Amino acid sequence: MVQGFSIRKIEPRDYLGVIAALNELTSVGTVDIEEFSRVIEYWKSCTVQDDIPVYNPYVVVDDATNDVAATGNLIIEQKLIHNCALCGHIEDIAVSAKFQGKKLGKFLIDYLTDTGLKAGCYKVILDCDEKNVKFYEKCGYSKAGVEMQIRE
Ligand code: ACO
Repeated sequence: MVQGFSIRKIEPRDYLGVIAALNELTSVGTVDIEEFSRVIEYWKSCTVQDDIPVYNPYVVVDDATNDVAATGNLIIEQKLIHNCALCGHIEDIAVSAKFQGKKLGKFLIDYLTDTGLKAGCYKVILDCDEKNVKFYEKCGYSKAGVEMQIRE
């Protein structure tokens, strides 16, 4: 934990803060609060192996102001291979500009990784730009494979 900050699941009241943080990562587009809330409800409805949440969207919050400082998601995939193993995917990590460099990104990644491993994931993986490789190495991750895509 970073002193003065807490971590919890995303709630509809985090709308503005989460959108602002995600704009550090990429274009969010026009998502209104109704759509935001609907996606959160959908995420909540998805489980694997009875009661393990598929989507684990979190916010790191400034205790003094309740501002959203960072956000990220852990998606738990049910596989067939390795005896129907679970695999964690870390997605959409973003720390708001004014909160960057305070170890909140590392705290968030450590928390999501731990959440995945405790849920029984045999590995937790992520894709990132080359410029963020050092950051993820500091979080204990190492390069494995090559990301490929088809994009429209
Ligand atoms: N390159 C090299 N080192 C870095 C970088 C970087 N880009 N970012 C952080 N670090 C280092 C820090 O210096 C620190 O090192 P130290 O422990 O030796 O002092 C360590 O990594 C931890 O840094 P934090 O303070 O936790 O980093 P921060 O809170 O700023 O979060 C992040 C890093 C998530 C990359 C943030 O800058 C950000 O949100 N950037 C914009 C959006 C983005 O690129 N998100 C990642 C997308 S990848 C995905 O979603 C899977």
